[in-house]
Amino acid sequence: MYNDNPTIKDLPKVVDEAKQGEVFGSEFAPVQPGTKQFYIESYGCQMNFSDSEIVASILGEAGYGPTRDMEAADLILVNTCSIREKAEETVRKRLRVFDKVKQRKPGTMIGVLGCMAERLKSKFLEEEKLVDIVVGPDAYRDLPSLVAGAEEGEKGVNVFLSREETYADISPVRLQSNGVTAFISIMRGCDNMCSFCVVPFTRGRERSRSAFSIVAEATDLFDKGFREVTLLGQNVDSYKWENPESGEVVNFAQLLTMTAAVDPDLRIRFSTSHPKDITDDVLYAMRDHENVCKYIHLPVQSGNTRVLELMNRTYTREWYIEKVNRIYEIMPDCAISSDIITGFCTETEEEHQETLSMVEFARYSMSYMFFYSERPGTPAARKFEDDIPLAVKKRRLTEVIELQTNISRELNAAEVGKTFRVLIEGDSKKSDQDWKGRTTQNRMVIFPKVGQHQPGDYALVTITDSTSATLFGYEVQPGSTRTNG
Ligand code: 5AD
Ligand code: SF4
Repeated sequence: MYNDNPTIKDLPKVVDEAKQGEVFGSEFAPVQPGTKQFYIESYGCQMNFSDSEIVASILGEAGYGPTRDMEAADLILVNTCSIREKAEETVRKRLRVFDKVKQRKPGTMIGVLGCMAERLKSKFLEEEKLVDIVVGPDAYRDLPSLVAGAEEGEKGVNVFLSREETYADISPVRLQSNGVTAFISIMRGCDNMCSFCVVPFTRGRERSRSAFSIVAEATDLFDKGFREVTLLGQNVDSYKWENPESGEVVNFAQLLTMTAAVDPDLRIRFSTSHPKDITDDVLYAMRDHENVCKYIHLPVQSGNTRVLELMNRTYTREWYIEKVNRIYEIMPDCAISSDIITGFCTETEEEHQETLSMVEFARYSMSYMFFYSERPGTPAARKFEDDIPLAVKKRRLTEVIELQTNISRELNAAEVGKTFRVLIEGDSKKSDQDWKGRTTQNRMVIFPKVGQHQPGDYALVTITDSTSATLFGYEVQPGSTRTNG
């Protein structure tokens, strides 16, 4: 579920959601004087960031405008993550900061949204006295009335998990947008029961959003100048939507084809894939459409069959290897990335070695790597002892990170001399004399601004240099591949 959110992808290899607090502000939605204002910080996966855009839309309808200034806000919201303990600790620290604001400005409402709200429910109100409302991921439509109740002194909780809610009719407010790349949520929830994972408990059952509303959102984004959409879901490959009128069922391969048809200049990405669900049809749809990016986030979690079984991943090492082979067979230029957990319950040194050899084998372009963090209520917490000492988990994690960094460096070095079509996202972080963009394989490319480009243009860039995280190059025939503006 982590791929190319700009706030995530630029971080070092070990991604800790806890560090990804992102403030949504009012750049694209100026607030009218006198309007009530909300401030929102988001943590966790892209789904959470996408949800915050839905929340902004719902609050906008209720007369609230966004602000970047916490002190100016009437309503402070934090969209939370529960995936690892550290993510929850960060949220609690942020609540201390919000508390200070509330002390200075009594009457400020504080709301906790997202996975931690869902996990802790009304316990949040007992544990954190300053919190006024607690709202789970499927209850955001209820936010305005919960806020109104809280203003009357009635603390509110809605953590109802729905089997239907997809927020399909809500147009997300694209806050903090670069105007080029956007997320489209295509499904919610997760029916897999990976034993380490809290998500099925915090986000409920899987449900898919109307294919028509997804294509309409992609078309609207393209018309507004966006050139890349990422179709988001906890497990996009199990997308399945039945047209209530015709009874026709749309699967993920078909949805990819439908969105690819919006415009050849609209790039399509997706995240996350569960290895068990990604079909040949999806791979063919990727191969057959130039604008479907050649990049798959295919979390392996562990390279050892026994550990995979304990994790309830429902595939073996050999089966995953076959899947990787199939991807490279159908799309030799496809990049694959992964999520990896070290030190899961009972993992031996030999089993850890198999994770290392999997990283070597799969040639991941990058990975998000974590040490195991027991989550209350998950099958692993109930059934297994969290018996690997923290120091061992961390040492194993360091080994995986070092190997992955070397492989990323080698793979990037192998791109030197090649020419790629790069979608320009904006100025490079280090210099406004350089552009930053991405290849279809999701590799970041930095190149000097020569021709007359703007973000959202495509440029042909020949690679001259690389690091483990970035490619550097120069534009061939500057300005010759403008596609908009
Ligand atoms: N401990 C450590 N990492 C976890 N992940 C999910 N649950 C846990 C946990 N309990 C990782 C998995 C998943 C990614 C989003 O977070 O690798 O794919
Ligand atoms: Fe996203 Fe999972 Fe964190 Fe919820 S717990 S915000 S689904 S990563």
